[in-house]
Amino acid sequence: MEITVENEELSLKKRRQFSLSENMVESQQQLLPTNLAVFSGRRTSPLCAFASSILFIYVCGIGFYLWSSNFACRLRNFGDPAPVSLSSLAFDIEQRDRYVIIKNYIKPAIHADEKNTMTFATAAIFTDLSHMPEICGKWQGPMSVSVYAPGSDFKTALRKIFNLRLANSCIHQNVSWHLYFDTEFSPSWRKIKSPEEEAELTTTTSGSYDVWIKGTFKSHGHLPFPPTLAEMLRSKKSKTKYVLVSDLHYYPSINIIPRFLELLKFKGPTGE
Ligand SMILES: *[C@@H]1O[C@H](CO)[C@@H](O)[C@H](O)[C@H]1NC(C)=O
Repeated sequence: MEITVENEELSLKKRRQFSLSENMVESQQQLLPTNLAVFSGRRTSPLCAFASSILFIYVCGIGFYLWSSNFACRLRNFGDPAPVSLSSLAFDIEQRDRYVIIKNYIKPAIHADEKNTMTFATAAIFTDLSHMPEICGKWQGPMSVSVYAPGSDFKTALRKIFNLRLANSCIHQNVSWHLYFDTEFSPSWRKIKSPEEEAELTTTTSGSYDVWIKGTFKSHGHLPFPPTLAEMLRSKKSKTKYVLVSDLHYYPSINIIPRFLELLKFKGPTGE
């Protein structure tokens, strides 16, 4: 009897122990997932989800804004039924790194015969443009000029270009103009208007035009002339097979295009 009682007691103890240890295991097993749940449920989710959703909305918003403004710009350029002057026909806006380029912003009045000529390509700031009449007169062919015009230089450059076009028939007929600037000094490029409107030729009030009258915006802001971009722009935008990439400080020789094309045909005294 005693033995059995003792046995029973023992077995009870064992059971208790067993059940205790079972309980412990259970509690440990329960502890782990609840801990995990706390981690994933309370710590990461609200913060991370909130931040990522904000970021997502932000990125989407920017993307949509860029897309829609670009679209609107193109729509306005292509879909305008009213007769527009040559210069304000479709132009392309492109962003490269921190620069924005408006390609073919002002177009030449005549189309060059692309096979029998070559293009003079250059990049400059508007103060260099005073060399243009002389260079165009010597070149007598299509020219592609990219003007670096950040901030208020944009309007000044456009006015200068319009003056040159008015005064010089060679420039009017043969030069296509591209303008580029830093995104942070851009003349609200997301809604760029026609060059005439941007230059405010139609209105008499000139607003900020006189602000940098002594020097350029570029020089006041100590902005470097972007060399690699200038290099790229110089060589890219022409339709002709041959391009002379140059500076506005070098004048081409008179009648150089036909002479150069003659040279290409020349095969040497043996005719090879
Ligand atoms: C414009 O370029 C053409 C060749 O494309 C040339 O024949 C013409 O003389 C140029 N215009 C002027 C006014 O020099």
